[in-house]
Amino acid sequence: MSDLTHGPHHAGTGCPTCDPWGGRPPAAGPRLATVKLNARGEDFRIVQLQGQLLVCAKQHGSCCCGWDEKGRMPFDPQAQWGDEWERRKIRNRVHLSFTGCLGPCAVGNNALLLLHGRAIWLKDLNQFDIACAVYDWIENMLSDGRILPPPDRLRAHVYERFLPPPSHDYEPLVTSAEATADGLDRLDPVCLMDVDPTTARHTVEYAGRRIAFCAPACKKQFLADPSAYLSA
Ligand code: FES
Repeated sequence: MSDLTHGPHHAGTGCPTCDPWGGRPPAAGPRLATVKLNARGEDFRIVQLQGQLLVCAKQHGSCCCGWDEKGRMPFDPQAQWGDEWERRKIRNRVHLSFTGCLGPCAVGNNALLLLHGRAIWLKDLNQFDIACAVYDWIENMLSDGRILPPPDRLRAHVYERFLPPPSHDYEPLVTSAEATADGLDRLDPVCLMDVDPTTARHTVEYAGRRIAFCAPACKKQFLADPSAYLSA
């Protein structure tokens, strides 16, 4: 796109180059910063953000989130998440992306918030009012410049999916998730879905273990190279 499209006349349009704060200066917070990046032989300046919110959505290729027929709350991504994101004018501090599957389908609807260097996983987002609670939390963390514990409305929706980084100053946001002794035995080793081996229709006996799969495709993939999936 030509740079002639940008300029003062572009203010108020929401253009991230000319109107990064959407016509409203931030009440407080760091000035915008950019990095210069080269791609395809050209230099580009990319705004650095405090974070990004990724929402798994049926319209963007999810396999479970947003699927009424799979028991998840159906939603229009723009109406449920996009309109509120735009209304709050946080575009250039937190980017919003709609995505396909993020991985932990069983507990969807899911979203992943990356903020201040932390990955914050949100699950079971099956209530229409919850997007506002998530954005309230995001705005509080932006204005405080640090990660805050989830508010009461969100406590049951936040969990730690990633293992702690190898450092001693890591503080989990919540400690409610408990380890289960049979957790690994219930995992489809190919897609990592939780499958009950006592009721699963697709299983194999391998190395003295009964291994369950969510679907024939996973079983076939496993049998083609079992060691690739059971090395851990
Ligand atoms: S379909 Fe949403 S996490 Fe898999």
